[in-house]
Amino acid sequence: MNDLYYPQNQNNLIFKSLALFESYKHCIFRNMMSTKPRHLQESKKLEHIRPSGIRKMFARAQGLEGVISLGIGAPDIPPPELLLKKMTELQGLKTSSYVINSGVPALREKILEQYKETYNLDFDLEGVVVTSGGTQLMFTAFMSMTDPGDEVIIPDPGFVYYPTIPEMVGAKPVPIAMDDEFQINPDEIAEKITSKTRMIVINSPSNPTGRILKDESLKGIADLAIDHDLVILSDEVYEFMVFNEKKHLPMASLAPENTVTLNSFSKTYCIPGWRLGYGIGNKEIMQPISKLHPFIVANAPSLPQWALAEFMGTKGDKEFRDKLCKIMERRAKVTKEEFSKLDGITVPPIEGSFYTFPKVENSSGTDPGYEWVERVFEKAKVVTVPGSEFGKSRNDHFRISFGSASEDKLREAVSRIKEMEEKD
Ligand SMILES: Cc1ncc(COP(=O)(O)O)c(C=O)c1O
Repeated sequence: MNDLYYPQNQNNLIFKSLALFESYKHCIFRNMMSTKPRHLQESKKLEHIRPSGIRKMFARAQGLEGVISLGIGAPDIPPPELLLKKMTELQGLKTSSYVINSGVPALREKILEQYKETYNLDFDLEGVVVTSGGTQLMFTAFMSMTDPGDEVIIPDPGFVYYPTIPEMVGAKPVPIAMDDEFQINPDEIAEKITSKTRMIVINSPSNPTGRILKDESLKGIADLAIDHDLVILSDEVYEFMVFNEKKHLPMASLAPENTVTLNSFSKTYCIPGWRLGYGIGNKEIMQPISKLHPFIVANAPSLPQWALAEFMGTKGDKEFRDKLCKIMERRAKVTKEEFSKLDGITVPPIEGSFYTFPKVENSSGTDPGYEWVERVFEKAKVVTVPGSEFGKSRNDHFRISFGSASEDKLREAVSRIKEMEEKD
């Protein structure tokens, strides 16, 4: 006989219905609230994603004649010739197949050699995971190292994905506003650490600020991570673009047990479209990343891995990195000099990467950075990005990327803006 005939089981039925309602209530409410049919509704995980303003600007500028783009964060320098040659030479059966999930061992060996030679740091082969760009490493790290409700401390201003990816995986981003020199004060981080904190994200040289975190700040953050048993996700994708003879200080040298270094070939060798990056750290800390990575991409693109394995460590490798750094250093100087000529704009010192984050002074608007960017785009056809894209703390700033702008283009951009201002 059916369970429903027994009064004692009616409770059971109510209980079951309540439990069922509990499990599906978000779907039921989502359906009720949404005007879209169910098959067109997206997962709740995506609700924090808003279209990237950088991409929007990029799309608006596409196809418009005479636009100078200081928007997109990609270098316009061709990749090293030898690397391109290797890509052509190595095409074939072997390089078209799947490779070991964590990446071609010969490439991971080369990465280890680069760390040894550049920073005198030693890692094991199992501590290197080659990913589809630094972006995939970031996603994999947040996904594999946090649980829902965990907190992730991020810099503000900071790279656009830092708050979004943790939110997507159920963690909570906790922004730390940088000071006026775009430094992070470790004491401010200390104040935000709770029992739920799992990770601290840092990025030096920084996108969008173009500044480098001071050694004392890095040391302070390393100590906090060690004392509180936290992971530092150290985004060092601009490690080779450090200006004025300064040397990059890798976080892994300060907190080796606690650091996952996020790295990428996109900017180092001007190959952002090849989608290759990597994570490196002690093999113990890299374990969750290695475990999850195959379920996201199986392996990162294979052919460029084989090509990079043959290119890295050659004479041309270091020469290219040095040459690129010099080009960006000259552009940084021109950017600072030229944009400083504009009234009401303060350009901070540019220490690394290919960005700077000037301030719009004395503006009365609600989003002065955005208003400046719109005006300059509409009237001078120069594309920049509003500061509000990089966090809540600096909407009176905007970002300039000189990665894809020659020195002449930078000068022309400023002369157009000046002309605009004279007419206004
Ligand atoms: C600070 C920072 N981290 C990570 C990335 C991701 O780079 P990719 O996915 O091309 O390796 C970027 C790209 O602009 C970046 O600026």
